[in-house]
Amino acid sequence: MNKFKDIKIAVAGTGYVGLSIATLLSQYHQVKAVDVIPEKVEKLNNRVSPIQDDYIEKYLAEKPLNLVATLDGKDAYKDADFVVIAAPTNYDPVKNYFDTSRVEEVIDLVLEVNPDAVMVIKSTIPVGYTRNLY
Ligand SMILES: NC(=O)c1ccc[n+]([C@@H]2O[C@H](COP(=O)([O-])OP(=O)(O)OC[C@H]3O[C@@H](n4cnc5c(N)ncnc54)[C@H](O)[C@@H]3O)[C@@H](O)[C@H]2O)c1
Repeated sequence: MNKFKDIKIAVAGTGYVGLSIATLLSQYHQVKAVDVIPEKVEKLNNRVSPIQDDYIEKYLAEKPLNLVATLDGKDAYKDADFVVIAAPTNYDPVKNYFDTSRVEEVIDLVLEVNPDAVMVIKSTIPVGYTRNLY
């Protein structure tokens, strides 16, 4: 793994969870933020927050962040030491079912291009989910 200051982090999903983490970590580390929505990526690369949050807006505008946004997950994950997964997991209360397919899309891509990366799942997932993934 790289030394502390050279640690590379990819964050999958630039919603409230992913973007807060990406913004904070990019003060100290090289961060690539991945999303599937081109407008969000473009805004972020222009240092405009795609979500309403006073701190994120302020940090993007004022701090020298080491943060790049991209649609290219493979490129972001391939040399990351850590991949933080903050993709959506919508809950269907009628079926009592979490849709974890977006999380699995990210995991499959990471395993394909960089199986040694440490994956940290911040998305809401059902009890026992990570054990089942083994
Ligand atoms: N918002 C909260 O306060 C909160 C708190 C704790 C946990 N969570 C959990 O964290 C997860 C994310 O929540 P959120 O509020 O940030 O969601 P969000 O819907 O605001 O953001 C998710 C982002 O992920 C992107 N995305 C979808 N598929 C992707 C993929 N394959 N690769 C990369 N990006 C992808 C979406 O375009 C979107 O921008 C959910 O599971 C949620 O339950 C949320």
